Amino acid sequence: MKALRIGIIGTGGRGVLGDSYLTPEDQVKIVAGADISAQQLERFQARVKAKQGDPPNGYLDYREMIAKEQLDGVFVTSPDFCHEEQAVFVLEHGIGVYLEKPIAISMAGADRILEAAYKHRSKLVLGHNMRYMSFVLKMKALVDSGAIGEVKAIWCRHFIGYGGDAYFRDWHADRRYANSLLLQKGAHDIDVIHWLAGSFTKRVNGLGTLAVYDQLPRRSQDAQTPVDVTFNVNHWPPMEQKDFNPVIDVEDLSMINMQLANGVQASYMQCHFTPDDCRNYTIIGTRGRIENYGDHQEGATIELWDDRKGGFRLHGDATFRTSPGQGGHGGSDPAIVRSFFAALRGQGTPNSTPQAARYSVATGCLGADSIRSGGLPFAVPALPDYLENHPFHK
Ligand SMILES: NC(=O)c1ccc[n+]([C@@H]2O[C@H](COP(=O)([O-])OP(=O)(O)OC[C@H]3O[C@@H](n4cnc5c(N)ncnc54)[C@H](O)[C@@H]3O)[C@@H](O)[C@H]2O)c1
Repeated sequence: MKALRIGIIGTGGRGVLGDSYLTPEDQVKIVAGADISAQQLERFQARVKAKQGDPPNGYLDYREMIAKEQLDGVFVTSPDFCHEEQAVFVLEHGIGVYLEKPIAISMAGADRILEAAYKHRSKLVLGHNMRYMSFVLKMKALVDSGAIGEVKAIWCRHFIGYGGDAYFRDWHADRRYANSLLLQKGAHDIDVIHWLAGSFTKRVNGLGTLAVYDQLPRRSQDAQTPVDVTFNVNHWPPMEQKDFNPVIDVEDLSMINMQLANGVQASYMQCHFTPDDCRNYTIIGTRGRIENYGDHQEGATIELWDDRKGGFRLHGDATFRTSPGQGGHGGSDPAIVRSFFAALRGQGTPNSTPQAARYSVATGCLGADSIRSGGLPFAVPALPDYLENHPFHK
């Protein structure tokens, strides 16, 4: 088997994804990386050299990397606001792309990426790794088995205790770069809701606010010290923290309602100043309800209530336990990376799709528009048929 020649755009932070899980059986060589930070490129080259023996080439301009290296595939793991420009450029060169979520920070940007992949027949795999998390897979299997009858409602509460560490200290806090945290964080959950329901949102509205972080001390615009965005459990309570991003205009509390094309009614609630971290889904069908306690981090308990006994019961009529797998995000990171390599070789079908990534971003963007316009409902435009049905992994 010929080794795949792989490049990475955005080599720090999430950029470790492409080179972290490689084994000799993968037959993959990381040949190059591009990053706007020379320091980060050096760290990337040393990191990959330690694993594969020789260092990859480093580029400050990703376009030069695409022109000079004969790449089979590229991981785009740069910040959200870079995705559209970089993914379109790589796809237009006929090179396969693994693109992190959110696919883009606007619906038009997402549609442009799909158009580029379609037009140039380039493979495109989206980084919705939640579709490989064991608790999500178990909930999907329960739904698909008919255990709760026909799904009618899905509600997700998302508690993000590290909001003040990771999302209000850098570009994530600024609408120009993130649009809304309904994309950066919520794109995952809106996608999971769509997957569990077997349909996409056609109408969305929302309410929300910036409840906490706009009241806290910020770094000055010209501060030179690097921003520390690592999770820190000592950052508590939220109102006593400081050193936040100079610009903060994304909401830290968002609630959206979704009506899906197949009639499922859904809601997603996100808070960035909780003491704990968890995604909690409940799915209600015509014959029962399931709910997860805990998620990919320490594993989850999924309760299934499918008999009417009345009153509150913490435990269901059946209980299922899921454990995290090996590797980042409960084992979902190595799994989704391998789905990209398989797609480049013309094998397998990834759990995630570019169409689903586009609908989750479209819903998040219009949900944010609704929050910012007093809760007005918006219709989510459908993709044209040729994009809706295109197999982007082939
Ligand atoms: N699926 C997941 O579980 C998951 C987890 C974390 C992050 N992400 C996604 O990964 C992406 C990167 O997130 P992050 O937190 O690592 O971001 P980051 O701000 O840490 O940046 C990642 C890297 O990109 C580089 N970079 C910045 N601008 C660039 C540009 N114009 N061109 C090339 N490189 C550039 C940075 O120097 C850095 O090395 C985001 O889209 C984020 O949503 C996904």
